[in-house]
Order: sequence, then C-alpha cells, then structure tokens
Amino acid sequence: MVLKTLFVAASLVASSSAWTVFTVPHTSGQDDTPGLMQALSAGAITNNTSILFQQGVTYNIFTPIKFPVMHNVEVAVEGNLTYPSDIPAVQAAVAASSYPGAWFAFSGGTNVTLRGTADPSWGWIDAHGQAWWDANQQTNRPHGFAFSKINGGAIRDIKVWKPIGWNFATSGSSNIEITNNQILAASSTGSFPFNTDGFSAGGTNLTFSNNHVVNGDDCLTVGNGAKNIHWTDSVCENGHGLSIGSLGEGGQVADVENVLIENTVMKNSLYGARFKSWTGGNGAAKNITWRNIAFENVPFPIYVTQNYWDQEDGTPPPANSANNTHVEDFLFEGFAGTIEDGPYKEGSCVTDPCWYAVPGATGKEVVIFDLYPNTAINIVAKDILAVTETGAPVRVMCNASAISTDIGFKCWDGLFIPTKAGF
Ligand SMILES: *[C@@H]1O[C@H](CO)[C@@H](O)[C@H](O)[C@H]1NC(C)=O
Ligand SMILES: *[C@@H]1O[C@H](CO)[C@@H](O)[C@H](O)[C@H]1NC(C)=O
Ligand SMILES: *[C@@H]1O[C@H](CO)[C@@H](O)[C@H](O)[C@H]1NC(C)=O
Ligand SMILES: *[C@@H]1O[C@H](CO)[C@@H](O)[C@H](O)[C@H]1NC(C)=O
Ligand SMILES: *[C@@H]1O[C@H](CO)[C@@H](O)[C@H](O)[C@H]1NC(C)=O
Ligand SMILES: *[C@@H]1O[C@H](CO)[C@@H](O)[C@H](O)[C@H]1NC(C)=O
Ligand SMILES: *[C@@H]1O[C@H](CO)[C@@H](O)[C@H](O)[C@H]1NC(C)=O
Ligand SMILES: *[C@@H]1O[C@H](CO)[C@@H](O)[C@H](O)[C@H]1NC(C)=O
Repeated sequence: MVLKTLFVAASLVASSSAWTVFTVPHTSGQDDTPGLMQALSAGAITNNTSILFQQGVTYNIFTPIKFPVMHNVEVAVEGNLTYPSDIPAVQAAVAASSYPGAWFAFSGGTNVTLRGTADPSWGWIDAHGQAWWDANQQTNRPHGFAFSKINGGAIRDIKVWKPIGWNFATSGSSNIEITNNQILAASSTGSFPFNTDGFSAGGTNLTFSNNHVVNGDDCLTVGNGAKNIHWTDSVCENGHGLSIGSLGEGGQVADVENVLIENTVMKNSLYGARFKSWTGGNGAAKNITWRNIAFENVPFPIYVTQNYWDQEDGTPPPANSANNTHVEDFLFEGFAGTIEDGPYKEGSCVTDPCWYAVPGATGKEVVIFDLYPNTAINIVAKDILAVTETGAPVRVMCNASAISTDIGFKCWDGLFIPTKAGF
C-alpha cells in the first residue's frame, strides 16, 4: 500500500516536469493555424514544451496565431512559414475583430523563446511583402511579431523574408535576449518597403545583438517606457536609423532611460543615430549613449530634434512653453564614416519638400542638434570623424541660444569644429 502510493506520486512528478515536443501539424494547401490554435487552447502545450515547426515542411500561416500565456515554452521555426500571398486575404484577417494585433502574437508568460534555425535554406518566414510594396498598399497591413508582456526568454535565429510592414515589438517585456536575427526587406523592383521597422524596443532589460536588418524604416526604435536597453554588434542597411522616439506626441508623458547602442554599421541609411520628441510633450529621455557607429553613405549621421512638429497641425507651440520632453546625458561617441551629400532623394520621400528635409541644412552636416531651450542637459558628441562624398567641408547645425554647455563642437550653423568635450 505504502509502496503503491509512492509509485503513483513518483510517476506524477515525472510526468508533470517532463519536457514535451509538439510538432505542429501541416496539411498541404490548408491553413495550418487552426490546428495549432486548437492544441494551444487545450492547454497541454503551454508549459514546458517545444512547439516545433519542423524542417522539411512549408507551413501555411494563412491566419494570425495568437499564443496564450505560456511558461517555459520554445517556439522553434525549423521549417518555412508562409503568409498568404493574396493581399485581400491578409487584409481581411487584419480587419477581423478577432485580429490579435500581429500575425504572430505572443502575450504574457515567463521564459518564452521564439527561435529559428542555423540552416540557411529553412526557417524563413515569408510575408510576400514585395506585392504590397509594388502596389503601395497600406491598408490593413499586419505587424509581424508582437512579443508582449513576457518575462524571460529570447528571440533568436529568426529569418524574415520580405515582411509587409513592422517586424518585432517587445512592449512590456523584460529580460529578453534578441540575437542573431535577420530581416530582409529589400525591394527587388524599386518600390519602397514603407514602415518595415526592424525592432521596436519597449520594456526593460532587453539585449539586442548580432542582428542584420535591411529595411525601409527604423532599424531599431526605442519607445516610451523603455529602460535598460542594450543594442550591439549589428548591421543596418537602407532604413531610417538607430532611433529613440518619437516621444511625447500630443503632450504624452514619455520616459526612456539607460540605453546603450553600440558597435553597429549603418549602410545607405537615411539616419545613423536619431532622437525625436514632439513639441509640447512631457517626460524625459535620460542616459542614452550611441558609440562606435560606422556609417557609409548616410545623409544624417547624427540627428536630434526636440521640436518634432507635424506641419499639418498648424503653428507649433512657442519655444518658451513649459512643456517639452527633457533630454539628459546623451553621448554620441566614436562615429566614423561618409556623408551622402550629393543630390539625394530617399525612397520614402513622396512630398516636396521631403518629410526629412531640414530647413537651412546643406546636406553636409555630420550632426544636427535641434534642441529646445532649458530642457537639454549634458548632450555631447565626441570623437566624430566624417567626410562628405563630394569632398566638401563637413558642417553642423546647432542653435547656441538653446544650449550653452560644451557639446563637443562649436554650436552654430557652420563648419564642424570640435571643442574640448569633443576630443
Ligand atoms: C515545468 O518544468 C519545471 C522544471 O523546469 C517544473 O518545476 C514544473 O513543475 C513544470 N511544470 C509543468 C506544468 O510541467
Ligand atoms: C504552467 O506554469 C505556471 C507557472 O509555473 C502555472 O501557474 C500554471 O498552472 C501551469 N499550467 C499548467 C497547465 O500546468
Ligand atoms: C526556459 O526555456 C528553455 C527552452 O526555451 C528551457 O530549455 C529551460 O529549461 C527553461 N528554463 C527553466 C528555468 O525552466
Ligand atoms: C524557405 O523560404 C525561403 C524564403 O522564401 C526560400 O528562399 C527557401 O528556398 C525556402 N526553403 C525551401 C527549402 O523551400
Ligand atoms: C532588470 O535587471 C536588473 C538587474 O539585473 C534587475 O534588478 C531588475 O529586477 C530587472 N527588471 C525587471 C523588470 O526584470
Ligand atoms: C505641462 O506640464 C505641467 C507640469 O508638469 C503639467 O501639469 C501640465 O499638464 C502639462 N500640460 C500639457 C498640455 O501637457
Ligand atoms: C546608464 O545606462 C547604461 C547602459 O544601459 C548603464 O550601464 C548605466 O548604469 C546607466 N547609468 C546610470 C547612472 O543609471
Ligand atoms: C534659436 O533658438 C531660439 C530660442 O529657442 C529661438 O528663438 C530662435 O528662433 C532659434 N534660431 C533658429 C535659427 O532656429
């Protein structure tokens, strides 16, 4: 009797802590999402499980997948995954009331990992974005991966091929390692891959490393509420930079702190390092460093504005308004590269002047600091080495009545002349 009880107890312990591998079922020509959703809702695969998209199979993810709260779960993408190639089918899923906010929506849980495979011919997630870009179709576009409110885990070795729009967002998550991912949103026809943002960092204790992004919007964007963000050892091509913001739209209180962005190559990007907050915002961005950034063929290597204002909204509030997002302890250190200063029109420019045009700029500026009086503290650019592609002297833009401390170069609209803090 005693022995039997012990035996039952022991087998329960063994089975409750066993690791399970669940291979996602696939049916040729059919949507594979419902089968996975059914298994997820049954509950048995939401703890201590690998959910495996197996190598050798191309899965049809014809409708979005909403993962429930999960603990100790790994979603392994070893096969290929394909979105519908039909634009209206995707639009209908995004417009549906059941749309979970992203094509792959994770929300809640602990120790959740989304991973791919090192095999270069498998593990691709193909969204067929080219057709959307070619048609300039911007209605009901899906976001790729929402990785929200998860504590602990990783996103690694994922390969995205031609996303329709935004890729990864980590809002409200903490202690996540995002490494060795590839996002390839390069258009093969000359159409522009609008809003194909790489990584949107919201949350706490997030490390990004060894990522390669080719896209048409921010490579990295750090948003409201982000804290302790580290980005390193990466390559960004074609997009809109290593960005913080935009913060404080419509008077919103936005806070970002402790961000280190380093060891990254920016190639043919519109911006290198970029900060943007809206006029009239509240909150603060503090302790933000960009360092060891190599840039090649970049029109705006370093660009900061505390005065972002949409022209369509009429006259901006006066510069003496009490409300503005504060910026404190910003360091740009160890930038080297070439400034694209020839006749230039980036693919996302559809207006005249272009949305990124800076009144008064010559195109030869390595740094543009558009700061707001009394709200910018300890902003320094140091060890900056740049040449223009035309060979013209390198310039800066900076309004000395907005900041009086040493910012590392002479604060004026003129030639780049390093000062004491700049060496
Ligand atoms: C999951 O595994 C952990 C050990 O890693 C164990 O403590 C826990 O009981 C398991 N949970 C379930 C539901 O199997
Ligand atoms: C999964 O694990 C979590 C946290 O350990 C626990 O609260 C939950 O009950 C578990 N779920 C199942 C189905 O065992
Ligand atoms: C976290 O999940 C991974 C799989 O992604 C697993 O190997 C590991 O054991 C889990 N950690 C804990 C503490 O259960
Ligand atoms: C997986 O998808 C990628 C991207 O669409 C493709 O290049 C590759 O050939 C596919 N792999 C196989 C084995 O079909
Ligand atoms: C972030 O990391 C720090 C240092 O390891 C830790 O003290 C803190 O609890 C973490 N924050 C969250 C939200 O996990
Ligand atoms: C401006 O800032 C003050 C002081 O922080 C705050 O009370 C007020 O609500 C803000 N106004 C707007 C329009 O954001
Ligand atoms: C500033 O941020 C960096 C990088 O996240 C961090 O290591 C450092 O501790 C922060 N400094 C302060 C004073 O919080
Ligand atoms: C410089 O800043 C002051 C104070 O905000 C402002 O009044 C002035 O218009 C600015 N000058 C330029 C050229 O932007």
